[in-house]
Amino acid sequence: MELPNIQILDEKDKRLHQKSEEVTFPLSKDLIQTIYDCLTYLEMSQDEELAEKYDLRAGMGLSLCQIGIMKRIFVVSEDHGDGTFGRYIVINPKIISHSEELIYVGEGEGCLSINRETIGIVPRYARVKLKAYNEFGEEYTIRVREDIAIAFQHELDHLEGIVFTDKIDPKNPFKNKNIMREI
Ligand code: NI
Repeated sequence: MELPNIQILDEKDKRLHQKSEEVTFPLSKDLIQTIYDCLTYLEMSQDEELAEKYDLRAGMGLSLCQIGIMKRIFVVSEDHGDGTFGRYIVINPKIISHSEELIYVGEGEGCLSINRETIGIVPRYARVKLKAYNEFGEEYTIRVREDIAIAFQHELDHLEGIVFTDKIDPKNPFKNKNIMREI
């Protein structure tokens, strides 16, 4: 398997801190291919052998702004643990509703654009329902929960130019931990 030519920008790049633009359809063939390449990259990064071979950090989500394409598109790849992956292609997403319950990643979130140690937790909704479009311009509604819900919210933030560390108070990195559930 060949590694797609994906150059991920570091948080120092100003594009990581800018809002992405609504997408108009149809997407170009090149853009669709780039979306698939991002998913392939994520899947390879989650494979231990391939990650070692290509020196990749494991990631389950990527927004196109992270490769310098300022469009409201992100992908999430869910490792089913049996060699298959769930693929989510999310374009022009809008949150319809979300749970009251908040959760957080106990070991802290990670991001392929943040190449340093971080400390702290980010509050996320345990369940989110949203509307979005696929790569062919077809609208769909999806409910996500737990780790996938966190991945979606992390990527939704990227579309707004927000990285997860922006949401951590350096003076109190574990703020409100007691009112949230750890996953
Ligand atoms: Ni990220």
